[in-house]
Amino acid sequence: MIKMDSQSQELFKKAMGDYPTGVTIVTTTDADGIPVGLTVNSFASVSLEPTLILWSIDHKVSSLKAFTEGRGFAVHILSEDQQELCKTFASKNVDRFGNCSWELSDNFLPIIDGARAVLQCKTFKTVEAGDHTILIGEVIDISLNEKNPMLYHRRKFGPIPSEFYS
Ligand SMILES: Cc1cc2nc3c(=O)[nH]c(=O)nc-3n(C[C@H](O)[C@H](O)[C@H](O)COP(=O)(O)O)c2cc1C
Repeated sequence: MIKMDSQSQELFKKAMGDYPTGVTIVTTTDADGIPVGLTVNSFASVSLEPTLILWSIDHKVSSLKAFTEGRGFAVHILSEDQQELCKTFASKNVDRFGNCSWELSDNFLPIIDGARAVLQCKTFKTVEAGDHTILIGEVIDISLNEKNPMLYHRRKFGPIPSEFYS
């Protein structure tokens, strides 16, 4: 393993923080049926046949076991008006599901209202990768609405600039 010094680690964080992404909230239910979820921007598309996506979870996340040992998860691609929700699902000591409207799907996955898109996934594979686990999901249900997605860049959230829609 190549050991990066702290200066190189800072450069790595800066380079990755400069890479614009959307933002998602990923949810599932734990072994007791309690909904869990967190804000995620490591989400990416992987394959069309089968339809696969991935995201990675930090080993420090409180709901790690629920995701790595569970059978599936729901990825919510957030809308531009869901910035508060995005912060709520990245904050400690808040009642995440008490601060939003949600319901359980037929796949027993918590689905939060108002996302740009929701991809319900069956866990296809988990891959250990350093201090994270990569979760690859096979998409089993997709819903999409007319809202615009949210953009995340340099730790700030915002709408997609209007020139992208002209
Ligand atoms: C924009 C944004 C993107 C994030 N992406 C990820 C991610 O891809 N994987 C991850 O494990 N944590 C990610 N986080 C951090 C988690 O949302 C945060 O640590 C959360 O509080 C973890 O849940 P816990 O408090 O239940 O441990 C992200 C946070 C933000 C604000």
